[in-house]
Amino acid sequence: MDRSQLTLRRLRLSPTVRALVREVRVDPTQLMQPLFVVEGTREREAIPGLATTFRDTTDSVLQQIESDLERGVRAFLLFGVPARIAKREREFLAEFTSAQIAAIKRRFGEAAFLAVDVCACSLSTHGHCGVLHEHSVGGSSELQIDNAASVQELARIAGEYALAGADCVAPSDMMDGRIGAIRQELARVGREAAVVMSYSAKFASRFYGPFRHAADSAPRGNVPRDRSSYQIDPARPSDAIASTLRDLEEGADLVMVKPGVLYLDVIARLRDECLTRYPGRGLAAYEVSGEYAQTELLAREGLIDRAAGHVETWTALARAGAQIIISYGARHAREWLRESELSSHPGQHPGGTP
Ligand code: PBG
Repeated sequence: MDRSQLTLRRLRLSPTVRALVREVRVDPTQLMQPLFVVEGTREREAIPGLATTFRDTTDSVLQQIESDLERGVRAFLLFGVPARIAKREREFLAEFTSAQIAAIKRRFGEAAFLAVDVCACSLSTHGHCGVLHEHSVGGSSELQIDNAASVQELARIAGEYALAGADCVAPSDMMDGRIGAIRQELARVGREAAVVMSYSAKFASRFYGPFRHAADSAPRGNVPRDRSSYQIDPARPSDAIASTLRDLEEGADLVMVKPGVLYLDVIARLRDECLTRYPGRGLAAYEVSGEYAQTELLAREGLIDRAAGHVETWTALARAGAQIIISYGARHAREWLRESELSSHPGQHPGGTP
């Protein structure tokens, strides 16, 4: 090689120098593992597209957490899925999920940081994220989401989850004003120490497909099919900025971009335009079910290295500015990060010297 020609390649030449100058490192402690616990099932079920994530039973979820802790996972995002007979049109029931929270905290205490998704879509008969009401315009009437009634229900549910022991409540409904209402409710019930992680920049995405099956939360019956009247239009990043600034103002400790991978520009803008105005708050990115499944499908077809593909995805989220990464692969992070490092250190043992 004619080294006299080298300029930028000097810092690319060896694994050691590459590691020295790396600007972004993904660490297993920044990952959060989603969990689904489903009422009334006797055996846990695989979720199409998500490989090693399951619709757990009330027993298997505890075993899953135990094995995740052994693999180094410290943070979880819980989705409680009540049985169909326990779903309501309004006055949603939080009991099932609250009981799971209490059981998890009783067993694992501080060892597991437990965030809990707060939304109506898994709790409702219709699958929408709030309370529906008949709205008459002119001669006709249509079903719409009642913002005020929804916020009231969501705040009550968040309070119940926090009282059951949730370390963090994570509203994913996208109603206006729910962060302030939740903060107020947490203070009222004496749980102001609970962290609020707002899904503040949640887009109306097609990439939630595998999740909606897992959470039994797809809109059903004689209701609007999509969530575009409350989730953000994919072509409108300014709405994500406004929504995030509003939620920070109302007291969100953590804000989130979701989906994360398709919206890296939004993550970077939140870092630069929102978090700078609220020092001390944090930014999360959700690698959603459809995004995660893309990498899994490529790997299954033998078209991509699984570990390296996932680590590159997480690196992109961290590079854009996310501190917290929510991923269905969190429980593999330690192993995948080790493997991906191995592949850039040919012939070396993990942690060994050359
Ligand atoms: C629901 C909620 C959704 C996800 C998390 N909470 C999806 C939706 O709006 O239907 C998506 C997560 C994923 O796809 O991995 N309120």
